[in-house]
Amino acid sequence: MKFIDLRSDTVTQPTPAMREAMYRAEVGDDVFGEDPSINRLQEMAADRLGKEAALFVVSGTMANLVALLTHCGRGDEAIVGDRSHTFLFEQGGMAALGSIMPFPVPNQPDGTLRLADVESAIRGDDEHLARTRLVCLENTHNMCHGTPLTAEYTSQAAQLAHSRGLRVHLDGARVFNAAAALKVDVRALVQDVDSVMFCLSKGLCAPVGSILCGSADFIAEARRARKVVGGGMRQAGILAAAGIVAIEQMADRVGEDHARAKQLAHGLAEIPGVDVAPVATNILYFRLAEQVSKTPEEVRDELAKRGILVGARVDGRFRAVTHYWISDEDIQATIEAVRAVV
Ligand SMILES: Cc1ncc(COP(=O)(O)O)c(C=O)c1O
Repeated sequence: MKFIDLRSDTVTQPTPAMREAMYRAEVGDDVFGEDPSINRLQEMAADRLGKEAALFVVSGTMANLVALLTHCGRGDEAIVGDRSHTFLFEQGGMAALGSIMPFPVPNQPDGTLRLADVESAIRGDDEHLARTRLVCLENTHNMCHGTPLTAEYTSQAAQLAHSRGLRVHLDGARVFNAAAALKVDVRALVQDVDSVMFCLSKGLCAPVGSILCGSADFIAEARRARKVVGGGMRQAGILAAAGIVAIEQMADRVGEDHARAKQLAHGLAEIPGVDVAPVATNILYFRLAEQVSKTPEEVRDELAKRGILVGARVDGRFRAVTHYWISDEDIQATIEAVRAVV
């Protein structure tokens, strides 16, 4: 059976152009800095984001952890959103591996942190208190409906942080989705942050990898942090080759996925018993209304039997994520299947 897999954009298979590039990739020992494909990917990524330097790492989780380990020392504190990926879904790596204390402040429904909340979370100079070092933002915000943070908001948050001697890290796993949704150059969304990571392996379809960008000094330190967490790779140019195709061919097309997410939202909203949340990028959340007698798990399983895979969360929400391998026909088939099942 052919599955229409909407559980996440992480399920994306590499494109034929990526497989070809991987086959032909020139490689070397990257711990020695000698992998030409990785070096090219890093230069290209830094240039694309308007930063001095970049580092290829195996995952988004590792990129965030390496950034935190680089910005913060033992006992330092990082202000994070209470619905952020870093706080909720990375096993508390900053605390477990870095002795860094997360200070969660509420994410607003649009994924932002209220600047007043950030301000009041910043600790003063007092020997009783941890030292606040970092503010972490997420763009687009996964748990807050895939909403993009604007360049204006990011600049204001960075200005506040910098004025208090803090740094800013952006989890930009889907920052190209944010740029497409806001119709701005991605550089505008990251110009004021000190570090930013983005994932090659989500909507950009590469099989493995994320990129951490920042100043040359920051990336030199981050290389050390990557090594200590076991992330120094050798002939990984075979993976970087797919990442190069991701940046060259995929980063500018993600708006098509947003259009399909909107088509899906529109179709689902017409089904009695389905409540659809506003959709801004490629991530769509919906719920069953009270009159529906089936549980979310039953609906998820019945959809799966029809070849449609969606995520069902413990809070009762469904999550459907559009990506390169989801076509207009797949969207129509999904709407028809949800109508039939609900
Ligand atoms: C916003 C965000 N940050 C970080 C990650 C972690 O990426 P990875 O799964 O590559 O570790 C994810 C994964 O879904 C994510 O959605």
